[in-house]
Amino acid sequence: MKGNLLYGLKVGRQELQLQNMVVINELETGIMSSYDRKSELKAFDDSKFGVEGLVENGVTNVTCMFYSEHSNPCEGLTTKSNSKFNIPSIDLTNIHDDPILRDDVMGKVRYACENWGFFQVTNHGIPIHVLDEMIKGTIILQVLQNMVVTNELKTGTVSSYDRESELKAFDDSKVGVQGLVENGVTNVPHMFYCEQSNLSEGLTTKSNSKFSIPSIDLTDIHDDPILRNDVVGKVRYACEKWGFFQVINHGIPIHILDEMIKGTRRFHEQDPNVRKEYYTRDMSKKVVYLSNFSLFQDPSADWRDTLGFFWAPNPPRDEELPAICRDIVPEFTSKVMALGSTLFELVSEALDLDRFYLKKMGCGEGLLLLCHYYPACPEPEITMGTSKHTDGSFMTILLQDQMGGLQILHESQWIDVPAIHGALVVNIGDLLQLVTNDKFISVQHRVLANHLGPRTSIASFFRIDHHPPEGLSRVLGPIKELLSEDNPPVYREISFKDFLKHQYAKSIGASTLSFFNL
Ligand code: OGA
Ligand code: NI
Repeated sequence: MKGNLLYGLKVGRQELQLQNMVVINELETGIMSSYDRKSELKAFDDSKFGVEGLVENGVTNVTCMFYSEHSNPCEGLTTKSNSKFNIPSIDLTNIHDDPILRDDVMGKVRYACENWGFFQVTNHGIPIHVLDEMIKGTIILQVLQNMVVTNELKTGTVSSYDRESELKAFDDSKVGVQGLVENGVTNVPHMFYCEQSNLSEGLTTKSNSKFSIPSIDLTDIHDDPILRNDVVGKVRYACEKWGFFQVINHGIPIHILDEMIKGTRRFHEQDPNVRKEYYTRDMSKKVVYLSNFSLFQDPSADWRDTLGFFWAPNPPRDEELPAICRDIVPEFTSKVMALGSTLFELVSEALDLDRFYLKKMGCGEGLLLLCHYYPACPEPEITMGTSKHTDGSFMTILLQDQMGGLQILHESQWIDVPAIHGALVVNIGDLLQLVTNDKFISVQHRVLANHLGPRTSIASFFRIDHHPPEGLSRVLGPIKELLSEDNPPVYREISFKDFLKHQYAKSIGASTLSFFNL
């Protein structure tokens, strides 16, 4: 006799009772005595798919060959949650430079080796991305990463560094995050450390979310009133419940989208001395290249550079455009303005207003184009690509490449916005939430940093333009037709100048709308 029956006899009746009932029943019914361990082992080994293969085939019981006496709970108490013991944790920060610290660490190692034979180390010098690469995709990794990040934030190295100098040196370099990468940084500098990147802030729900942002097909909406009506209903639902949707068959040829992404990449990847010429924080310019608009206001910098065009109503002259993307930018913007116009019609109809209502208000007149570039990041778990924020536009149309990483906050969960080739992401901005009196919502979103890169995206913001200055005196408030006794205004009327003042003074994640609440 061999295998589990032998083991069953050996451990005895009393211990067996503590075991899984299945085992006892099987032993009692005699299945075990006829169990051929050798054949089971052989069949399993021959499958060549391992235990994962059993799971993939939907096993619901552990097969006999895996029964183990060590699983017997009498053998030792498992003490995960309520033990007074904890294996030693040793911080290796500065042990190569500081003899006193090193001495202290040696003492801890001695104690751990003598009494435990086990210990954990933090700040051990192996970059987190290497660890990440090793166990990518497992939940355990996420938990460990959070621990490491928290420890790094707690050790005080963060509070003692000179943030202002670091920001200034970075900004003065005029070559952005890409400049750091070109210079071979292997660690994310402190100014980019971000508490928000902590995964505990909201569950990331990549694989197991029941939610997915709406996708709307615009085929034939100009010709078929029934289809159009259907689309208006979908737009209404998306703007009320999500503040976000994707559109397909939107009329912009895919080759134009692809070329716009390529043009953006070319700009950010060209000779640093050439792109440096465009680096500026002077927003009276029509073409700006910079890293992080609110670099000096934000609690942490984002791992992202941006080339911006204040495009409509008065676009830059041809010769002001960077030569490396001079052809595609005008072509792309003319298409995106046309799509914007269509979308403002659909949104007006979704509000039960005249089709041209929002256009007549001037919602589609001003276009700010931001061409973002997210270089590959050596430590994505401690920083962000774009920190969470809402957009200060009426509406934004976003073109993203295939890298993914955009997430929106929906019902307290961060939901991935899937990268779909040829699709465009549309979202409602603060200005539309204001004029619709909260009927349509401006939703928080963010972009995760990634080991892999670069990621490229182009955001087209429809907003009021501040060149020429007349735009600044435009007054905005909840649309009268949408108000009633049951739906009184929640915002006061404001000038665009007021709006921009708050927009530019605040950090990226702060709310602008709350300033205008009645
Ligand atoms: C933005 C934005 C997202 C992205 O520019 O406001 O949210 O994918 N961008 O780059
Ligand atoms: Ni945004």
